Formats: sequence, structure tokens, C-alpha cells
Amino acid sequence: MYIALQYHSITNFFIMRNTLNIKIQKNLSSKLHEFNLDTAEFGKTPTDHMFVAEYHQKNWSNFRVEPFQPLQISPFNLSLHYGQTVFEGMKAYRMQDGNISVFRVKKHWERFNKSLKRMAMAEIPFEVFQEGLHTYLMIDEAWVPSAEDSSLYLRPFMIAYEDRVRVKVAEHFLFMIVGSPAKQYYSKPLNLYVETHYSRAASGGTGTAKCGGNYGGAFYPTALAIQNGFDQVLWTDASTHQFVEESGTMNVMFVIDGKLVTPALTDSILDGVTRDSIITLAKDMGITIEERKISVEELEKFFQENKVQEAFGAGTAAIVAPIGSITIHDRKYQLPPYSENALMFLIKEQLNNIRTGKSEDKYGWNDVIQIGNRVNP
Ligand SMILES: Cc1ncc(COP(=O)(O)O)c(C=O)c1O
Repeated sequence: MYIALQYHSITNFFIMRNTLNIKIQKNLSSKLHEFNLDTAEFGKTPTDHMFVAEYHQKNWSNFRVEPFQPLQISPFNLSLHYGQTVFEGMKAYRMQDGNISVFRVKKHWERFNKSLKRMAMAEIPFEVFQEGLHTYLMIDEAWVPSAEDSSLYLRPFMIAYEDRVRVKVAEHFLFMIVGSPAKQYYSKPLNLYVETHYSRAASGGTGTAKCGGNYGGAFYPTALAIQNGFDQVLWTDASTHQFVEESGTMNVMFVIDGKLVTPALTDSILDGVTRDSIITLAKDMGITIEERKISVEELEKFFQENKVQEAFGAGTAAIVAPIGSITIHDRKYQLPPYSENALMFLIKEQLNNIRTGKSEDKYGWNDVIQIGNRVNP
């Protein structure tokens, strides 16, 4: 079913698919003019609207886009007590033709459902995820920045939405999509501390799920590292602390002797969409990829032999975040200064070119929303 959706003023309409019968309530006091989209601080400013869906009696329903507003939550809400919360982080880009592309929606949706399953939460059908996203973006499309390196950060998430102060699996859930304009995330090279005491995730745990608890548990060790002058910790595996895993909200990658080396995925490492995209593009460039266990000892040896040419984090927020130094116990290994021809920056540029339509999207990564579908009746 297609509807003409009233938008912004009575003269602007979008033609869009609305198979879910999404109800739309427009925000009559847009905050858009109060912000400079191209310099907005990451994750601080919500757009005018949000998408909401509810899960009751094993069914998703009550789909709506409504003004961004606080939720009404009972202090008995299960998610506040037992941590049934899962989220995704994605980005929408302004393409050079004015349309909007959202990067790898299907892969994010797949990971979202994997996380939900691990957390015993209701999975979400692709139609709800995608159509909710499209409807929200059509309505708040003016919030997608156009400056280089800027984007609209998208946060689909789900929480248990049931009131009971008893340890139980929730039966009712709330799924929402909110967004916030984002400029570049990290700017200066990061100083990392290899963490060999605390752990982010253990085998058999929830490390591959993007659930709130993983992040809450990481705050304290990260705060200690920051107190000691570092920016982030580089996590190691929980059972031996011998193997490098990931860092903050990023997978970690190294260029060693011309090869792109990154820890192989395990059940304690998040399967990053950026990681996967970088590996795909690096393979296209003819670069040898090694996805394998990397021990701290081996990394230290590579540093001592001056073989580590680049180290960087890979994630949706930062895309690539250069690493300036890695400290193993009390030994600080400095990375060489990066030129603009560093592999990480070349790949980042390729990613940006694909997302903005400057290069061919040969892997079909862009979910394009045709803003040109807007018509004046
Ligand atoms: C723990 C963790 N690792 C890695 C990543 C990178 O994943 P992606 O590239 O899908 O953003 C993220 C961010 O989502 C994360 O939170």
C-alpha cells in the first residue's frame, strides 16, 4: 500500500510504502533550526521524531512515528532491573544527489536479532525494522547532515516493557528508532592500555550481543585507564588474558608487514559491520588479510621489530580511529605518525565514497531512501 504522507508543510508530500499502517504524529515545534548539524556533538541532540513499535501477546503492533519525547516507565519496569536491553548503532548519509543512504541495514538487523535471541527478547521482522527506519527518516530527512564526515547516527533499540520486580523473562517489549546528527567521533590518535585484569566478555557470555550490560561492565576498567592517562582499554580474552580482542566500541585492526591483521571473531567479540566492510574492501585492494588469534606477546614482538605500521579501531561511530600508542603492562609502544595515505584512511575514504554515492556500491550496502519521491500536490 502506498500513501501520500503529509510532511513539514501542507505543500510537501512524500509517496511512501506503508504496509505496516504506521501512524504519524508530526512534531509541531521542530528543533532543527536550533542546531548546526555539521558540528553537533555526537549523540547529544535528538531529531524531532522517533519510531515506536510494541510487542504484546507474541505480536508486533501499534507502529507509530511521533514527536521525540520521554518514555513513561514504571519503576517496576523489568529492563531497569534485569538488563533486557539491546541496541544497534547505524548511520544515514546524505548522498551527492540529495538522497539518503543507510549503511548495511540488513547486516545490522541480523545482528540485532542475534543479540535479541541471546537476551531472550522478541526478535523483530525485517519489514518492521526497515519500514520503521524509512518512515522515520523520510520525516526527519532534513536532519541528515551533508558535510563530509557527518551523518545521522541511528539508534534502533529494544527494552523489556513490562512491570514486575521479579526475575523473569519479559513478554512485552518496546522497539524504537531514534537518531542524532553526528560529526566525526574521535579526532586524535588513541592511547590504549592492554587490559589483563578486568574483562569485557567471557566465552559463553554475551560478548557478541549488543546488550546494555556489556557496556555498563566496561565503564569501571575504562575509567581506571582514563585516570592513568589512557583513552581506552584494549581488551584481552577473559580466560587467559593472552589474546587481543577489541577496544571500547570498536574492533581492532593492525597493519603488520603490509598485511591487515585482526582478531578472528569469537563469542566474546562483537561482529562489527565496519570490520566486515573494511576486510571486504581491503581484499579488493589485493591486501592479504589475516583473521586470527593475536597474542599480546606476539604483538609486543612485532612492535619491537618495528613491524607494526598501523593500528586502528573500526566501528560505526568513528569508522576508523587511529591508535597512537599501545601500552603493554608498563611498556608503551608508539605507532609511527600516520600519513593521509595510511591504509585505514584510504579505506575510510572508499567507505565514504560508497555511502555518498561517489563510488559504485558493488556490494549493495546502501539502503537508499529516495528523497526525490517527495511530490508537491
Ligand atoms: C563492543 C563493540 N565492538 C565493536 C563495535 C563495532 O561494530 P560496528 O562496526 O558494527 O559499529 C562496536 C560498535 O557497535 C561495539 O560496541
